[in-house]
Amino acid sequence: MLRPILVTGGAGFIGSNFVLAWMAEEQRPLVNLDKLTYAGNPLTLASIEHDPRYTFVHGDIADAELLKALFAEHRFSAVVHFAAESHVDRSIVGPGAFLATNIHGTFELLQAARAHYDTLTGEDRDSFRFLHVSTDEVFGTLEPEDPAFAETTAYAPNSPYAASKAASDHLVRAWHHTYQLPTLLTNCSNNYGPYQFPEKLIPLMITHALEGKPLPVYGDGQQVRDWLYVGDHCLAIREVLAKGRVGETYNVGGCNQRTNLEVVHTLCAALDELLPNSPYRPHAGLVRMVKDRPGHDRRYAIDASKIERELGWKPRETFETGFRKTVEWYLANRKWTEDVTSGAYQNWLQENYGHRSTSESVGA
Ligand code: NAD
Ligand code: TYD
Repeated sequence: MLRPILVTGGAGFIGSNFVLAWMAEEQRPLVNLDKLTYAGNPLTLASIEHDPRYTFVHGDIADAELLKALFAEHRFSAVVHFAAESHVDRSIVGPGAFLATNIHGTFELLQAARAHYDTLTGEDRDSFRFLHVSTDEVFGTLEPEDPAFAETTAYAPNSPYAASKAASDHLVRAWHHTYQLPTLLTNCSNNYGPYQFPEKLIPLMITHALEGKPLPVYGDGQQVRDWLYVGDHCLAIREVLAKGRVGETYNVGGCNQRTNLEVVHTLCAALDELLPNSPYRPHAGLVRMVKDRPGHDRRYAIDASKIERELGWKPRETFETGFRKTVEWYLANRKWTEDVTSGAYQNWLQENYGHRSTSESVGA
């Protein structure tokens, strides 16, 4: 009998894309443990709800008793750990939840996995893996001419979010080094694609543009991110899980460096084309430069040559193809966005954007 994998945070953006692809393409059953914070949406997974290979558990990764019971019941063959507080702006307003979930929650999950691993023998023990999904933000910020982040780049996190993820990466490393837990670590650049909560740059801009609301670009808009289509990230995680060397770290990135203003203007042009009757055309007229994010990292870029060399992974989507799919998905799934942008989300918009003064729209 195939023993299931445990996915944490599988109702969030990347987790749900991973869960849906796994259920469509892999044989092993899957247990999804998710606390369903504002960022988790079970509706995203409605299509697999009744699949006998899928189990949803509503709970917290920091709940040691729950973890103990789940490992005892399911005897997991692997853990893929997505669950986290993930939004930089929220970490600036309220860092406590980031320390609780990203650091303490990861600690409890490592402890439960370790206790379980100690009971395994033979092939079950040889094949067990704990894969921790992390971010390029642990490496800090780059100057325009700096080389991209490699797996050997020193950690230099700048936001409370990045610091909490860096701490969790260090715990994973230590649990491998000290207790021989067979860990794998991925550090990925900014993702975009279906089911991303509209607090992050691309879905926020799409949802605002559709309503004719201002498109708030922080600072001078010249910050650079390395954008990767979420489906490509999920494929990379499956490659690392299947073939990655135990104890290793793999950087995952899209080779798609774009300034925020370029991204927003590309989006506006796509909406102009796809919505010829929109009263808000040209959508670029909605762009507003607003007060910058404190401690805003200037540039991220990933050197993904190790994962390509060792595991043969590289992104399938270019920025143009992935971006187009994403915009079309948001246009076709407005109900999904409406469902997740409830009262609490409106409060967040007020909290994050209410105090930022705006200036006029600018060109790319
Ligand atoms: P998300 O915020 O969309 O989803 C997080 C999920 O975790 C939600 O379903 C939430 O309910 C759940 N969760 C939060 N706290 C929990 C807890 N204590 N116990 C159980 N579940 C909990 O995040 P995402 O964008 O999908 O990111 C997933 C992972 O990938 C995170 O670890 C993040 O650091 C990492 N990552 C994200 C990006 C990106 O661009 N989004 C890039 C690189 C790495
Ligand atoms: P975000 O999607 O929050 O990801 P991260 O901060 O993890 O990179 O933001 C991506 C970039 O877009 C980042 O440089 C901040 C910027 N940004 C804006 O200019 N305006 C916004 O309203 C948001 C949410 C982000």
